[in-house]
This record gives sequence, C-alpha cells and structure tokens, in this order.
Amino acid sequence: MKPSLSTSIGSIQIERPTMLASGILGISLDVFNRIYNAGAGAVVTKSLSKEPWEGYPNPTIFSVKGGGWLNAIGLSNPGAPYFAKMISQNKEIPIIVSLVGSVEDDFTFMIKQFESCKILAFELNLSCPHVEKVGLEVGDDPELVKKIIKKIKSVTKTPIIAKVGLGTTNYLDTVLAAQESGADAITAINTLRAMAIDVETERPILSNKIGGLSGTPIKPIAVRCVYEISTMYDIPIIGCGGVSSWEDAVEFILAGASAVQLGSIVGDNWLSVFDDINNGITKYMEKKGFSKIEEMIGRAKRF
Ligand SMILES: Cc1cc2nc3c(=O)[nH]c(=O)nc-3n(C[C@H](O)[C@H](O)[C@H](O)COP(=O)(O)O)c2cc1C
Repeated sequence: MKPSLSTSIGSIQIERPTMLASGILGISLDVFNRIYNAGAGAVVTKSLSKEPWEGYPNPTIFSVKGGGWLNAIGLSNPGAPYFAKMISQNKEIPIIVSLVGSVEDDFTFMIKQFESCKILAFELNLSCPHVEKVGLEVGDDPELVKKIIKKIKSVTKTPIIAKVGLGTTNYLDTVLAAQESGADAITAINTLRAMAIDVETERPILSNKIGGLSGTPIKPIAVRCVYEISTMYDIPIIGCGGVSSWEDAVEFILAGASAVQLGSIVGDNWLSVFDDINNGITKYMEKKGFSKIEEMIGRAKRF
C-alpha cells in the first residue's frame, strides 16, 4: 500500500506535510487555490495586523551570495478586516491565518474578524526580527506571550500556533510560555537578524538596514531548534527554515516536526516544489517501510 502523507499537528489535520510559509505569496484566495492545487497541505497567510501596514520603502529584499534571502519588507499587509472579507468565501483551502500585534487586544480584535471564515488555525507571528513593538519584541517577552495566548484561547476554539524565532531571550522560554498558556503547536523558526552592505556606496543595502535571513543558510539552525523543542517539550512542531528538497523535509520530521513550511524555495522554484517534495517523501517512506508520517516524527532522538 502507498504510504500516507497525511499528518496531524495536534488537532490540526492536513493531507500533506508541506505548507506554504507566511509572507510568501500569501495574500489572495486565487493564489492560495493554486498553491493548494500544487500540493501544499495548507497555506499560511502573510502576517496580518489590525490595520493595513505600508511596510518599508525599497530595497526590501536581497538575494544573498551562496544562497538565501535577506528581507525587511516591514510586514506590509492589507489589515485583518479586509483580509477576512476576502477569504470569507473560502470553502476548501486549508488556510492558516498569521497574525501580528503588540498586545492581547490587537489579537482578539483580529480573531473576531475571522469568526465566519473557514480556517484551519491561527499562527501568531512572535518572531519577525525587523519591525518594532511586534514579532520578536513580543516573542522575547515570555510573560507577554502568556498573556496574549491565554486571552486568545478564551475567545476562540480555533487552534493556535505560536511561531518562534531567535531573539535576545532564550527562545525555549518562549516555547514554554506558549505551551503553558495553551498553544496547540509551535512553528520554528522565523528569519534570523542579518544585514548586508554595498561596498561601492558604503551603504546598508536594505532600507531598514537590518533584515531577516532565510533560505538554505538557516536550515541547520532551524533543524537544531526543532530537535531541541521536541526533546524538551511535548508540543507538536512545524519546522520552517531553509527547506528546499525532500531530504530537508525528512530531516525536519526526523528531528521532531509533524510538518514543514516552505518559504524562500517557493520564491526560487515556484510551485512545483510542493509536489517534488511530497513525491520524494513518499519514495523515501516506501524505501524505508514507513506507512505514516507519524512513524517518522522524532526518530533522530533515539540516538
Ligand atoms: C519575503 C519574506 C516575507 C516574510 N514574511 C513573513 C511574515 O509576514 N510573517 C512571518 O511569520 N514570517 C514571514 N517570513 C518568514 C518565513 O515565513 C519563514 O519563517 C522564513 O523565511 C524561513 O523559511 P525559509 O528559509 O523556507 O524561507 C517571511 C520571509 C520572507 C523571505
């Protein structure tokens, strides 16, 4: 029998273990449909704020020599109320709505907007490394993370995924705070603070100067984080950071992830990566005799 690619991230069930990461093409229902039909098990939206945000002026993204991207888009987005209206007609696409805010009430306001939408989960962006007062600045404060998640859990039954990154606090304290306050899963990790300078003009390349590094260079760090979280805590994990092949996806699963998100590679290779990676995982499972993803999760922890 052909192995099954379906996987559970706690109470969240998806048919394939590859998802679109937040911020990558995640802004319209038509595009979500294409991504889903191209093989993604779920799509995560661009992080949404209470009101529309313009983001930073150009240049906001830069291709790094040797692989990866450096970006500081500034979380430009149309705002949660507009977005909720746009996806209100959604019936079949498993959409995870990414939210960004500073305090509990920002999140509860946004969650209310999606009351009549069919969505799979909310992912809280506690880890954007280049916008003030949101993202990592929230994630770096485990007490605030607790307050936010507890409040959110009191207003919705939709599963909550906390997306963590590497900031100034030990990210494992943020994971613990998320778990203790009822988060259903963790996504690890976001981009890592980084910068590039043009030697001719002597200026930082990004308008925001500091941005976030993504893609293949961050993969070993992301695998390490998934492994550490999975070793220390009993909470489902979605691995994210530099996945570009089926081998990478399997590596994250062996480290402890129940699914993976694809970001930069989708920008590099377009949508064929979802099927390529899903097919590669299936062949690997056939070769190794696995019938379900669940059987593979965390196997590297045996050693
Ligand atoms: C252009 C760009 C925009 C992004 N925007 C968001 C965002 O809005 N919210 C978020 O949580 N992560 C955002 N990310 C981070 C990705 O979701 C992902 O965590 C990161 O890129 C690592 O995955 P990758 O190496 O596969 O790209 C963005 C990344 C890129 C490259």
